[in-house]
Amino acid sequence: MSASPPLFVVLAAGKGTRMKSALPKVLHTIAGQSMLAHVLSVTSDLRGNVAVVIGPKMDAVTQEAQRVAPSAQVFVQHAQQGTADAVLAARPAFDHHAGDVIVLYADTPLVRADTIVRMRDALDAGANVAVLGFRPKDATGYGRLLTDDKGGLVAIREEKDASVAERGVGLCNSGVMAFRVPNLATLLSRIGNANAKGEFYLTDAVELAIRDGLTAAVVECGEDEVLGVNARDQLAAAEAIWQSRARTDFMRDGVTMIAPETVWLSFDTRIAQDVVIEPHVVFGPGVTVEEGVKILGFCHLEGAVIGKGARIGPYSRFRPGARLGPDVHIGNFVEVKNTTLGAGAKANHLAYLGDGTVGAKANIGAGTIFCNYDGFNKHKTEIGEGAFIGSNTSLVAPVSVGAGAYIGSGSVISKNVRAGALALERATQEERPGWAEKFRTMMTRRKR
Ligand code: UD1
Ligand code: CA
Repeated sequence: MSASPPLFVVLAAGKGTRMKSALPKVLHTIAGQSMLAHVLSVTSDLRGNVAVVIGPKMDAVTQEAQRVAPSAQVFVQHAQQGTADAVLAARPAFDHHAGDVIVLYADTPLVRADTIVRMRDALDAGANVAVLGFRPKDATGYGRLLTDDKGGLVAIREEKDASVAERGVGLCNSGVMAFRVPNLATLLSRIGNANAKGEFYLTDAVELAIRDGLTAAVVECGEDEVLGVNARDQLAAAEAIWQSRARTDFMRDGVTMIAPETVWLSFDTRIAQDVVIEPHVVFGPGVTVEEGVKILGFCHLEGAVIGKGARIGPYSRFRPGARLGPDVHIGNFVEVKNTTLGAGAKANHLAYLGDGTVGAKANIGAGTIFCNYDGFNKHKTEIGEGAFIGSNTSLVAPVSVGAGAYIGSGSVISKNVRAGALALERATQEERPGWAEKFRTMMTRRKR
């Protein structure tokens, strides 16, 4: 492979009209991450330099590019005159660039790094231009790859400009192109716009290169990898492909999913070996699940760490800052937010644990609420190791319960409780013998 790093030119200037959205198209997300970020993560896997081409007034796209790839250069294409014109907008980035130049579309977010490596292999094998081709079930709308009798690429024909015979070609252009030519800017500047759309087509670079005595090659990949997202139904299709790939990767790495098609993952989800996931579990961003955890059905997790051997669900919710130590049990209808639980702690039913710490082996009874918010500020609840919180306890933060202490059921605890103590906050129970019978008699008489 060429010694110097490649330059990736990522095209993101299109308006994305068909998305019908106030948000620029490439900021729409797949698995919780923008399409642009998906493409930029491939460029960083391959250690390339990056130029992103955006349209006018797309500050949010610039910010996203700089967030994900701080060293990326951003160029503005002032008028959307076609893909060749878009690549030329990044000319300052490749004018003095010695390595390969690889064009990616930000609306084609599922391309894999190893496929790009295969394209660079084609350049190493002698091609000056490599085009990523695929054979879609329905070729409508795609440019067709025209080859000679030896299978060598001779031209790319956009559908609107193709003859009937050319439209019959099943091999299509994905849009991904790699160049190893002496002077790319000169080659692209020679592209004209005498075509059906009146645009400067990057795809015309192939015919020009061949006329100059250079060579072009096709590298093929599956349709799933090069799905282009122009509208929301395709966004959903891309999401489905991404999810299915990610589930397969996890299962191959030793995660059991009973109904994988019902498990939703995020771009950064981390799940260790021997984790078992029951149906209908959703992972938002920032979740780490350690070895041997069992996740029962219908859990929702975001920004959480689930420690080794823990058992969660069914129907538990984990919000940012939930940190579960090893062997913790969290059961149905328990919400955990910004709270750390020590090894073996349990909250098995109906509770809200927000902004707190729970010591190892503590037991939180059904209906316990950490009253963390007074309408202005959030406050902390601290529960010591081995403490026992009776059912239906309200802990009015800031408050702490010492190690091993007991809280009687139904208490509203607003003062700190010492280690080992029993705290009760309840009116004394009153009993009136025979009262019920007298009451019934009185009421029956009145009715008559
Ligand atoms: C393009 C290809 C076609 C290929 C198809 C694959 C050309 C001429 N055609 O067609 O062969 O089969 O992709 O999906 O390249 N863009 C700019 N500036 C522009 C125009 C486009 O940045 O002036 C960007 C868009 O944001 C998008 C990409 O380039 O990311 C492709 O543009 P689009 O108009 O969607 O091209 P297609 O007609 O789909
Ligand atoms: Ca497109």
